[in-house]
Amino acid sequence: MIFAANFKTNHTRATTQTYIQELNQKIEATSTPNDIYIFPPATALNKFDTKATVGTQNAYPSKNGAYTGEIGVDQLDEFAIKTILIGHSERREHLRESQEIVAEKFSFFLNEGFEIIYCIGEPLEIREQGDKAVMEYLLAQFEGIDTTYENLIIAYEPIWAIGTGRSATVEEIASTHKALRASVTKPLLYGGSAKPANIKEIISIDNVDGVLVGSASLNVESFFEMVTT
Ligand code: 13P
Repeated sequence: MIFAANFKTNHTRATTQTYIQELNQKIEATSTPNDIYIFPPATALNKFDTKATVGTQNAYPSKNGAYTGEIGVDQLDEFAIKTILIGHSERREHLRESQEIVAEKFSFFLNEGFEIIYCIGEPLEIREQGDKAVMEYLLAQFEGIDTTYENLIIAYEPIWAIGTGRSATVEEIASTHKALRASVTKPLLYGGSAKPANIKEIISIDNVDGVLVGSASLNVESFFEMVTT
């Protein structure tokens, strides 16, 4: 199973350092077989001594250059970071990343050999139209995306379940992951209000290969409780 923590705009350089140290101690004490990923904010990226994979939540599709406010491959190389989240709904919405921009980023980081966690998800009004509308919406988010890329993980994150405390139901996750499985053979993560109270149920659903966790990953005890469920 894959357990990924997306800190979003939470934690500082100092608290990320402490978090990863505490997580390391816990991992060593239990020797979990699960794969753990941590996505701290860009200012907290570093070369951590950890069994967890540390990735970036975002980067500009360039090695370097005149892209004020962005980081590129050179800045990630400094810390040997080779894993990136692409397509998160918060970037599509707040940073206005269109499918075209997302696809361009995907191709760039694919060519750089990055491991990509590619996020897709539908808004509530689409979910309310039923399964067919949901799949049409999700499959449109594969436009321009090479879903056969060997270093790819897909994260299904229904937008209405993100940060709301209301996870998708077992039936909704099961039917969506089953339908996605028909199009992609890559590991499929679920994200959206995954937490200690529902993790057991979520990871036991067919075609769920792990979770991408926001809020409940911010506290190291809470995240580790999920990892060792
Ligand atoms: P929450 O776990 O806070 O709902 O966030 C999910 C998410 O967006 C992870 O990328």
